[in-house]
Amino acid sequence: MAKRDGFVSRFGVLVTLAGSAVGLGNLWRFPYLVGQNGGAAFILIYILFVIFLCFPIFISEFIIGRRSQTDVFTAFSKISGDSRWNIVGALTVLSPLLILSYYSVIGGWSVNYLFKAVNFEFTNTAPEQIESMFTGLISSVDSMFLYHTLFILATAVVVLGGVKGGIEKFSKIMMPALFLIMLAIALYSLTLENAWAGVEFLFRPDFSKLTIKSCAAALGQAFFSLSLGFGTILTYGSYVSKKENILFQSSGTVVFDTLFALIAGLAIMPAVFNYGLSPQEGPGLVFHTLPYVFSQMPAGGAIAVFFFLALFVAAITSSISMFEVVVAYFVDEKKLSRILSCLIVFIIAWLIGILCLLSFGPLADLKIFGLNIFDFLDKTSSNFLMTIGSFCVVIFVGWKMKKSDIYDEFTNGGTLRWNVRLFGILYFIIRYLAPVVITLVFLSNFIL
Ligand code: PHE
Repeated sequence: MAKRDGFVSRFGVLVTLAGSAVGLGNLWRFPYLVGQNGGAAFILIYILFVIFLCFPIFISEFIIGRRSQTDVFTAFSKISGDSRWNIVGALTVLSPLLILSYYSVIGGWSVNYLFKAVNFEFTNTAPEQIESMFTGLISSVDSMFLYHTLFILATAVVVLGGVKGGIEKFSKIMMPALFLIMLAIALYSLTLENAWAGVEFLFRPDFSKLTIKSCAAALGQAFFSLSLGFGTILTYGSYVSKKENILFQSSGTVVFDTLFALIAGLAIMPAVFNYGLSPQEGPGLVFHTLPYVFSQMPAGGAIAVFFFLALFVAAITSSISMFEVVVAYFVDEKKLSRILSCLIVFIIAWLIGILCLLSFGPLADLKIFGLNIFDFLDKTSSNFLMTIGSFCVVIFVGWKMKKSDIYDEFTNGGTLRWNVRLFGILYFIIRYLAPVVITLVFLSNFIL
């Protein structure tokens, strides 16, 4: 049998995992949720959820992937010998496929905005016109169709190159570049005259603003940002060599992802406050408020180019990870060639994406549970699919896998000192705490 594709270097694993985690979630979703949920207090709760809940879930997914060395569909049944777990496997193949399509529509917006920035449209245009740019884009089905197609095609091309030849190589170059760009923009933003108001908003907590709903939103965001419950960490984990340290790779990714969300906040909020705008704009913050900020800022035209380039890179490395989950299924399970698998996934994601973008126009009245297709996918992803996926993962690791196997996988046969020390607490969280908290948060969606 041909050897399965896999990563070549430790750094490659880290940047690829980080590539999946850092995405629209950090640059688009995190800043607007912080804005809507009162700033620093929300961030604090978010960080607590990340450390005590999401980090152990991340490790659980990683463990299943590396133990099974196969795609998500059979990973669970291969380890447990119980084919009923294929149902969970099937859900974990379908979820990223659905969300990929919606993600690609927003990814397409980032491409469109990058082109606009390169044409200096944000600096040579009157503020009223900038205001209407976003509405102009989402009311033009043709443009959205074009950019969604470009985005999903670019994703397919990278995945076609394979794990080491495409995904890992791409991430090794793009992720450091992305980090430097965002760091530079954040530093620049901090030099603006009234930057401090934005910094205070991000770091001085006002707990009176915190509601149960915002706590649930913080957890949903932590799931989304760390790519949990979608089989991406599991799939990437299955390509990682047995010599690697799961604790090191997971903590590196989690720290990087959180740091990145904070840097994105620092790049955006000081600028928004400096120009007297509201941080509560919601999903339009990055596509609506920011272009206005760029039009007013000294050197804003150049900053806009870099910002939208960063947004595009962040989005594509995440969409690559979702794409790979489904491609791995066709390659490992159906024994199809990588090229054919990529073609199939491309066509399905492209078609669902088209349905999704039509929900801004001709299909606006097609409602699922009262929401149009786009909003339905946005809500289902973090509120339902990720929570259900993560719940199955912790139940599997905590209650179905043998404790000795988890120990073996996490500590590389007892050889990693820190991992051995942390195992007890990690196991407790995975087995008891995580299922309870995930259930509570899941139920809060129906009660609140
Ligand atoms: N973590 C990605 C982001 O922050 C989104 C994502 C979710 C990617 C699930 C893969 C799987 O944008």
